Amino acid sequence: MRVEIATYRDVRSWLDLAAEVESLFGDMLGSAGFYQALLNNIARGTAFCVREYGGPPGEPLTGGLLFSPARLDHPENHIRWLSVAERWRRHGVARLLVEHVLSLVQPPGVVSVVTFGEDIPAGRAARTFYERMGFQPAEPAPPGPEGGSRQVYRRSVP
Ligand SMILES: CC(C)(COP(=O)(O)OP(=O)(O)OC[C@H]1O[C@@H](n2cnc3c(N)ncnc32)[C@H](O)[C@@H]1OP(=O)(O)O)[C@@H](O)C(=O)NCCC(=O)NCCS
Repeated sequence: MRVEIATYRDVRSWLDLAAEVESLFGDMLGSAGFYQALLNNIARGTAFCVREYGGPPGEPLTGGLLFSPARLDHPENHIRWLSVAERWRRHGVARLLVEHVLSLVQPPGVVSVVTFGEDIPAGRAARTFYERMGFQPAEPAPPGPEGGSRQVYRRSVP
């Protein structure tokens, strides 16, 4: 299992992965913003994926992560999107993806992510996952597209 930089050939599989989590995240396949974000991340080399059985671009994905590195207008590094295909969960895919982006952060740095609020039962996996990865719950964030609560999680890279 290894992390790869996604290519345009991975778009179709990425959309399949997104379709699996739409009920949780809200509309993505019907939103221009999601396609733009995916293509922008592929273009700048910050869309990371793990392909099933280490296959070539275009194979199904076990997981994907969009990463926004720190820059002048946002000094924190952000995980913008993270999903693991249902049948691949609890196999360490998300851990691998997050460890990969943590390794890209120039220390000292901060990585933040907006995840589900405490009141969303389906978001518990994500909250527990980020806590296991050393992130701490921080301020509330604006509600997601489906209207559910969101919270910032943050960790430092000393
Ligand atoms: C949250 C999510 C990304 C975790 O992906 P994953 O590949 O299954 O996570 P990993 O296997 O790398 O888990 C690493 C550790 O996190 C914790 N963890 C992960 N999922 C968990 C769950 N459902 N319940 C409790 N702990 C969990 C465990 O400590 C796990 O280690 P272990 O399996 O050795 O006990 C995945 O459940 C998912 O895609 N959920 C739907 C989309 C989502 O919520 N994305 C994040 C939004 S910001």
